[in-house]
Amino acid sequence: MVSFAKGVIAMSLPKVYVGLPIQDAGLEILQGKVDFRVWDKEGAPPRDLLFSELKDAEGLLSGLPIKVDAELLGAAPKLKVVSNYAVGFDNIDVAEATRRGICVTNTPEVLTAATADTTFALILASARRIMEANAFLRSGEWKVWHPELMVGRQVAGSTIGIVGLGQIGYEVAKRAKGFDMEILYFDVRPNPEAESRFGAKFVKLDELLRESDFVTLHCNLNDSTRGLIGEKELRSMKKTAILINAARGPLVDQEMLYKACKENWIWGAGLDVYNKEPVPLDEPLLTLSNVTTFPHIASATRTARNGMAVRSAENLLAVLQGNKPRDLVNKEVWK
Ligand code: DGY
Repeated sequence: MVSFAKGVIAMSLPKVYVGLPIQDAGLEILQGKVDFRVWDKEGAPPRDLLFSELKDAEGLLSGLPIKVDAELLGAAPKLKVVSNYAVGFDNIDVAEATRRGICVTNTPEVLTAATADTTFALILASARRIMEANAFLRSGEWKVWHPELMVGRQVAGSTIGIVGLGQIGYEVAKRAKGFDMEILYFDVRPNPEAESRFGAKFVKLDELLRESDFVTLHCNLNDSTRGLIGEKELRSMKKTAILINAARGPLVDQEMLYKACKENWIWGAGLDVYNKEPVPLDEPLLTLSNVTTFPHIASATRTARNGMAVRSAENLLAVLQGNKPRDLVNKEVWK
């Protein structure tokens, strides 16, 4: 509640719940403009707390650990905006939000470079067995230099297949060009700019899987992409190929990926994302030395995370101030 000079009717600020401890750069934007509370503890806010916070909130700043489903949206009668601190928004029931006239926003662009960099970190780490080599040295197993010691696969000059050439896929193509890679890509539509700048070649998914040394996924998770890479797809890849996933775990059939890596249908995998996160320690994939694993850190640079905090705060505020937010996912709600 702000107090005003005598004679002016006191107005309360719109109530907002910030469901994760975003960087100060974002909180400063909200300061004085909305009445907000922040969840700043480990893990996701408990469901019952979310329900009670959203009873009278007009804005929710959400993130990947928060499942914004129909039940939660139904318990938030005043909610006008769900601003996701992420480019992906599969944690949100967008159809239900749209039905209720609630804006859903995300944070594109600010994390594109960081995510493409991490994709390359996974490519290099998997191909050159970096994690394995590091553990080998530290455990005292390195006795002598040997011509066959930690021999991996060459990245430079190989063929990369990019599944989903949006902003992140495009940046991956840019980096691949620097490694003299041949670039194949598959998407719902061709990208003439990537073709002329990087010599990228638009192909069908089955050709991409057959021909690529590295297959890297950069598509949204939705009903049409869930399980995109299953047994048939993994079996169609080269035995020397590596699958990279820094997008969303459920794009891949994780059980089949385990089999594929264990039984050497493919050479290995580099993963930043999983079906269930945090990935349980008894996940079979974690037992395989040809699987490189990161804990969903693709956008974890100071620059990207500050950018995500700013962008999510700006999107949230725009809606509450009656303006069209820059990154509106469900455009149909804005009349
Ligand atoms: C996203 O933005 O969707 C990432 O997975 C988290 O940065």
